[in-house]
Amino acid sequence: MNIINQLKQDHAHLQEMLRLLDEHLHHDELDLGLIKETLAYIGDYAERYHHPMEDRLLNHLSQHNPRLTKLYHHLQEDHITLEAQSNQIREQLEAIEMSTVVPMDEFRRSLLLWVAAQQRHLHYEDQYMLPVAEHDLRLYPENFDWPLPPNVGLITQYQSLTRDLRSS
Ligand SMILES: [Fe+2]
Ligand SMILES: [Fe+2]
Repeated sequence: MNIINQLKQDHAHLQEMLRLLDEHLHHDELDLGLIKETLAYIGDYAERYHHPMEDRLLNHLSQHNPRLTKLYHHLQEDHITLEAQSNQIREQLEAIEMSTVVPMDEFRRSLLLWVAAQQRHLHYEDQYMLPVAEHDLRLYPENFDWPLPPNVGLITQYQSLTRDLRSS
């Protein structure tokens, strides 16, 4: 799969997972185990693999098309901010697991804000970044020799997590 299609597929998976998580967060009872697994999936996939892949793609394209430099830096900063937000959520969850008092409403609110920030980022990239990147990569092709994660495992994990979220 080429890098653009890979990114599109990642976005579709992440959007669906975030949509289901958002739905779950409107239930009275939260399943903390399921939330933890979802955060871990997004951490492993989006943060360790997907964001670096986008950063590398934009770095390459902005060297050929300086008009993309601003977009590249904007997205890089966004990735750093999103990752910091994810770490805060994970810390809150750990505190809850260690029975430190964190009001559930506060945790729910933080998660909803986190979901919304992730969704805004994905939407922005789908609307603005991917069309430009797709266009410019045709002009300045590059063979991204990017070590794919164990994709089959990730897809299985995605499928089982989204199934669990749907039935939660
Ligand atoms: Fe991104
Ligand atoms: Fe992305």
